[in-house]
Amino acid sequence: MQKLVIHGGTRLSGEVFISGAKNAALPILCACLLTNETLRIENVPHLKDVGVMLNLLKTIGVNITVDKKLGTTLTASHLSELVAPYEMVKTMRAAILVLGPMLARTGEAKISLPGGCAIGLRPVDQHIKGLQAMGAEINIRHGYIYARAKQLNGVRIVMDMVTVTGTENLMMAATLAHGTTILENAAREPEVKDLANCLISMGAKIYGAGSDVITIEGVKALHSTIYNVMADRIEAGTFLVATAASGGKVHLKGVGTDTLDAVISKLTQTGAAIKSGKDWIDIEMKGILNSVNFRTAPYPAFPTDMQAQFMVLNSVAKGTAIITETIFENRFMHVQELKRMGAHIEVEGNTAVVHGVNSLDGANVMATDLRASASLVLAGIIAKGETIIDRIYHLDRGYEFIEDKLLQLGAKIKRIN
Ligand code: UD1
Repeated sequence: MQKLVIHGGTRLSGEVFISGAKNAALPILCACLLTNETLRIENVPHLKDVGVMLNLLKTIGVNITVDKKLGTTLTASHLSELVAPYEMVKTMRAAILVLGPMLARTGEAKISLPGGCAIGLRPVDQHIKGLQAMGAEINIRHGYIYARAKQLNGVRIVMDMVTVTGTENLMMAATLAHGTTILENAAREPEVKDLANCLISMGAKIYGAGSDVITIEGVKALHSTIYNVMADRIEAGTFLVATAASGGKVHLKGVGTDTLDAVISKLTQTGAAIKSGKDWIDIEMKGILNSVNFRTAPYPAFPTDMQAQFMVLNSVAKGTAIITETIFENRFMHVQELKRMGAHIEVEGNTAVVHGVNSLDGANVMATDLRASASLVLAGIIAKGETIIDRIYHLDRGYEFIEDKLLQLGAKIKRIN
């Protein structure tokens, strides 16, 4: 199993390019199932989760080519296997995103239930409830969702909670439904809007994506398109926090601050100086690093995917911070590892109290999930001495060329087997 070895104490400095967004690329790739014409998707990040999704789509019968610049063409003219097997869904929950488009296009789908995962239970009841409201017949047997529908019908759906992939699944299904679907309490995440823009470029009629009411007028068929995936706001946020926590100065390319308001506002409170343009962000941290309180919530509020990284920043900042996690019930697994590096953190239910200390000490730590892994890398960069991070396959699920990018910024990091 591979590990990362980091010698800490570097202030990050230099330039880094931000990759395409994992959470936008995954649903956009699934959109190919909605048409028999070819989709060309650009700026697809080179990630393990993307590899799993492409393999799943190939299994279903999609013809795929990927060029050196990571442009991906997908043609789903004949779908041979209308199944997302357990082996694939268990490694990547986002595989559930094939359910809506596959059902809408073919009238049939069999998808393994994702089950629990490290950060929480994460049920898919809202995906199922929405499709049933559109007229699908859904049975759950032997851990699989069996879905059938001769024709999906437009309907008004009020979702019980804000779910990102739930909104995406129903939005994709509704593009080919008969009549108009209205999704209320929809997720407002920029990745939902990016997917909607891709679908619109394929001929879908979608209004209001990016707000909490999305209206979709079903059309008979969708067509080919060329679409460029948005930049990854979580990758950008991770580099911004790493720069602030390490007292560095970095120029981010390929991303602006338009999707990062909550993160930028908290970084400014820490004392970081930030300037930005349409597709760049400069950050510089001079002087005292102040701790920041925050509460995770659906977009546009503070993202749960940035919680672990900000916890590392708070662990070496001046003062005491209160962090409340409201999205996932078990997303503090990095706390035990950070404590082993000398962080002073107390957890009570969904709240963590972080008392800033002067510095962290390098240690052997274990990555438990994607964003927790990123937080341990940040901790290793700012700690004194050597940190060895085990189980880094989690990191490869969501961060493209992470060591190369950090090396470019001066971090002392290497991967060992
Ligand atoms: C997506 C993101 C993930 C991010 C999360 C929250 C992708 C591929 N992943 O995950 O990086 O951390 O949004 O911003 O885009 N829930 C239900 N029933 C459902 C669906 C969700 O109870 O049918 C609950 C979940 O358990 C969770 C909350 O709703 O507590 C939000 O989950 P959701 O937005 O669905 O997360 P994902 O779409 O899986």
